Amino acid sequence: MIKKIPVNLLEPGMYVSDFNAGWLHHPFTFNSLMISSEDDVARVLAAGIRELFIDTERGRDVGDGAPTAQEAAAETGQQIEQMAMTARPLTPEPRVSLAEEMNRARLAFGEAVKIIRNLMEDARLGRQVEVVTAKPSIEKIVASVMRNSSAMMTMRRLKSLDDYTFLHSVGVCTMLASFAKVVDMEINSIHDIVLGGLIHDIGKMRVAQAVLNKPARLNEEELRHIKSHVVLGSDLMHQLPGIPVLAMQPLELHHERYDGSGYPKGLKGDEIPSVGRMAAIVDVYDAITSNRVYRKGISPALAVQKLFEWSQHHFDPEMTKVFLKSVGIYPIGTLVRLESGRLGVVVEQSETHLLTPVVRVMYDGRRQHYIAPEDVDLSRPVGSGGGDRIVSFESAEKMGIDISRFLQ
Ligand SMILES: [Fe+2]
Repeated sequence: MIKKIPVNLLEPGMYVSDFNAGWLHHPFTFNSLMISSEDDVARVLAAGIRELFIDTERGRDVGDGAPTAQEAAAETGQQIEQMAMTARPLTPEPRVSLAEEMNRARLAFGEAVKIIRNLMEDARLGRQVEVVTAKPSIEKIVASVMRNSSAMMTMRRLKSLDDYTFLHSVGVCTMLASFAKVVDMEINSIHDIVLGGLIHDIGKMRVAQAVLNKPARLNEEELRHIKSHVVLGSDLMHQLPGIPVLAMQPLELHHERYDGSGYPKGLKGDEIPSVGRMAAIVDVYDAITSNRVYRKGISPALAVQKLFEWSQHHFDPEMTKVFLKSVGIYPIGTLVRLESGRLGVVVEQSETHLLTPVVRVMYDGRRQHYIAPEDVDLSRPVGSGGGDRIVSFESAEKMGIDISRFLQ
């Protein structure tokens, strides 16, 4: 049986089936491990892990009171459901339609990928990093998000496998733009932090590429080296004139954690400026939903549950709620099953209710074949294009459905 336990109950002889920290560089090769000594326990603690899953059939059990994985997931699901029932979505009102914005968003996203690729290449080769070249691109991204943030959120989901570092940089940058819009930040500050999102991992170009891309277990030294990307990036940017203070915050603070378990400074709670707390949330959300060479990204709806769960320790809980109310309980790109038996992908958030996004229906789950795609606004009643209900979200990978085909 899989049980969820707080890390202080972990003992030698227990079998960890999941460290419950998909976002963490932790010192274990696999996500499962037989805990053989107090040393192993100490390493789990040192990695900042607060809760994890053990398999009681493969190792020692824990005393009474620990919930099973299903019970824990059901509880998180209930809490999110409760939030969804009582809270209004924080989806900013679109000024233009999604269809109208898509092309501009596609161009802006592609341009930003090219720019960060060049900037990172310069950083890697020790050349002068001309951050100012990113300005026009940043302005286009922010303008697109202001017109209709769903378009940029869709671009994130179309990302391909290659060049994760560049795509992740632009992903974080676009999500920071819509997060900043939701918390009503003023426009100049938004431009600064979006630039910060774009360059947040630039220090990785100063980390030995062999360590950065190593598919095997990292030793303590290599882990320290990877973590140094924050300080390396910060040093690099401080050498340049005219980088706004706010633009440094996503870079310097995105690995700090609300409970103090992050790095490089181990800041805690409100010691972390709000932009840093926002950057930590979007960095993890983008990372765990992205496809990597060695693993598939998780469903956006599952990522929402994970972030909610982790916000008990690692993220600012209130800010996490704001973020989730803006991306939705079923964010853009989520494959959902409807009561009618049809499957579809979420293409736009509802302005009125977190549980009723616009879904592009394209698969008959009962007869198991594709159907002509049709957009269904779940917030509208039967007869006016709505009249269905989400019953669950599905793994697109397991269903063998290529989501990006239906997001274009
Ligand atoms: Fe990072």
